[in-house]
Amino acid sequence: MKKIITVIGARPQIIKSSAFSRAVRTEYSEEINEVIVHTGQHYDENMSAVFFDEMQIPKPDYNLGVGSGSHGVQTASMIEKLEKILLDEKPDGILVYGDTNSTLAGAIAASKIHVPIIHVEAGLRSFNKAMPEEVNRIVCDHLSTLLFSPTSTGYENLKNEGFSEDQNSCSADNPNIYHCGDIMFDNTSYFSDVALSSNTVIDDEKLNDVPFFLSTIHRGANTDNSENLTSIFSALLEILENYKEHHLVLPLHPRTKKCMEENVSSSILDQVEHNSRLHLINPVSYLNILALENKCDLVITDSGGLQKEAYFNKKPCVILRPETEWVEIVKNGNAVIANADKNAIVSGVKDLMGKKDALTYPSLYGDGKAASFIASEIIRNL
Ligand code: UD1
Ligand code: UDP
Repeated sequence: MKKIITVIGARPQIIKSSAFSRAVRTEYSEEINEVIVHTGQHYDENMSAVFFDEMQIPKPDYNLGVGSGSHGVQTASMIEKLEKILLDEKPDGILVYGDTNSTLAGAIAASKIHVPIIHVEAGLRSFNKAMPEEVNRIVCDHLSTLLFSPTSTGYENLKNEGFSEDQNSCSADNPNIYHCGDIMFDNTSYFSDVALSSNTVIDDEKLNDVPFFLSTIHRGANTDNSENLTSIFSALLEILENYKEHHLVLPLHPRTKKCMEENVSSSILDQVEHNSRLHLINPVSYLNILALENKCDLVITDSGGLQKEAYFNKKPCVILRPETEWVEIVKNGNAVIANADKNAIVSGVKDLMGKKDALTYPSLYGDGKAASFIASEIIRNL
């Protein structure tokens, strides 16, 4: 039996962890004992607790209760607390997801006391080190023993950084890399039907008979920059002017909610708050967001997860960032990069709406069984 500590903390990691815990529960319960540590990076009910029952995620064995703070304060507090748990639990490996401060803390704490690191969502690069996530993922990849990349681009990035494909031995100095598909796709495949039958948001927001767009915004480069945040909201208002039948649903990340008052110009904020077709709602559960993704006409987002889930749901996407790690959806024409540029956002929506029915969605993210593959390689290697 291998003891694996899984670190979760931010919303997308809680969601991703559902796929791995499900694989352990249904296929590998004799071989893997999963101990779950929640750092507490996200703590609002609708950013954390809401996902556990709905996605059948086991209750965390530990919650570090770290909460919000500057990068240094937040990450340091996590490292200190994680180190104690690692020393007590003596796991065979630590599994970290993605690129948040919780990922970085797990990697640093484990590397110093020689616990092998398993990085799920390895190899992704924006090539923009102004993004905290780029720093987190580079450090985490280069400390890891098993690296699981969701895309062929991620796998190639790892090879370009000197990782070798030879998988005969495995250690922090001689890591193994894999292209295994995306565990987020595992979850969308698994939960899509139940999302359509049991979501509440479509009725609550009276969206049954109206076309709508779905948007999320939370990147610091957008929320903390007044020019960018005002430009994005101006674009959303103009889009509603251009599509008079459409509504726009925007589940607000707490960071964005906190920044809007200060960083969106008052005249735009006033229009946003009084537009009856603009649904500013609290963050929604996973089944609700899946239903929104499935029923909307198009997604406008700076979220990494939503860009892909738009693709899984065969919906075009306007990306509110200067670049993306998910380059294949742009190459295939399903998404456009608009950053926070009002004209680019508005014209991106027009272009994609115009050619929506001609877009194709080839399989790019695996077969929905990435988590099972990851679990089997952990058992084989550690
Ligand atoms: C973090 C990740 C980002 C990921 C995102 C997912 C880092 C560096 N960033 O960004 O990669 O895309 O999570 O959503 O790890 N807040 C609350 N309640 C909460 C959580 C946050 O009010 O439950 C507010 C706090 O004011 C906090 C701010 O949101 O300061 C930012 O939270 P934080 O976790 O630091 O970063 P995110 O922007 O959420
Ligand atoms: N999500 C959710 N409810 C929401 C908004 C997003 O469940 O109101 C889910 C979304 O479906 C995806 C994940 O959260 O699975 C993405 O997280 P987020 O956008 O916070 O972070 P990122 O993916 O950019 O790191």
